[in-house]
Amino acid sequence: MTTITIQRVLFNARKELEAISDSAALDVELLLAHCLKKNRTYCHTWPEHELTQSEQRCFEDALKLRKDDYPVAYILGKKSFWTFDVEVTPDVLIPRPETELLVEVALEKIADIKNPKILDLGTGSGVIALALASERPDASIVACDSSKKALEVAQRNAVTLKLDQQIEFIHSDWFENITDKDFDLIVSNPPYIEPNDPHLNQTIRHEPYSALVADDLGMRDIHHIIEYSKMFLKPIGLVILEHGYDQHLRTQSSFTLNDFIEIESKKDLAENIRITLAATH
Ligand SMILES: C[S@@+](CC[C@H](N)C(=O)[O-])C[C@H]1O[C@@H](n2cnc3c(N)ncnc32)[C@H](O)[C@@H]1O
Repeated sequence: MTTITIQRVLFNARKELEAISDSAALDVELLLAHCLKKNRTYCHTWPEHELTQSEQRCFEDALKLRKDDYPVAYILGKKSFWTFDVEVTPDVLIPRPETELLVEVALEKIADIKNPKILDLGTGSGVIALALASERPDASIVACDSSKKALEVAQRNAVTLKLDQQIEFIHSDWFENITDKDFDLIVSNPPYIEPNDPHLNQTIRHEPYSALVADDLGMRDIHHIIEYSKMFLKPIGLVILEHGYDQHLRTQSSFTLNDFIEIESKKDLAENIRITLAATH
């Protein structure tokens, strides 16, 4: 194996990745820093550093995966969300920055509630529950998922972030195994992509299908959660759901049909309407 410097690797690999990634330069830096076991700044501080054979092999393997559209977060095994990093594996959806909007609104809405009790449906890597727990040490949270493997990842993240005392993880098909019926708040980022969405063959094809796709044009799980939420909320309670950019009207109608009040939708930073919330009487 011939030797190669950081600078040369960054240049060559970026060229190779530009065809498939809009963030080729960043991807390459993250992958290289990962193989060097350093941070990204190191790559720019030491451009003349020559890679060892094992660093080169690690990077070649990572680049090969990335060229097949494999997400950077799965290669690194981690993703930043809110104020922390979480472990991610191909068993969980990679947390998206848009979901931070749901967390922000949830925190605003529970600001005046002492010891809020929260249910996170479809917790995946656990990010929503973890962010809420980290901001509200007085909250108690139940987080469920139908995927046992996803729950294992979420549980590990809770232990790593020392938030495991605040969150109870339950294996459940939505509400099936949820026994408490006195939640102040129910939050969920459920699957909402329709089965024939073309993106499923492209960038998101490596993520778990069951975390992404729902029948009835992507609305099946949203309708289900709205229909059953009331039975699990206190008389005065709130539901906040993330949904696709074109699903807010259908989500609002579903809330109306189920007798919720104060229904409103909110836009994310990209001006897409991505969450809808509603209250009980
Ligand atoms: C879009 S992902 C959201 C993951 C995480 N909350 C987030 O925001 O990154 C949806 C999650 O719902 C879970 N899920 C799908 N069907 C479910 C069901 N019937 N009951 C419980 N969880 C389910 C999936 O396993 C997945 O973890």
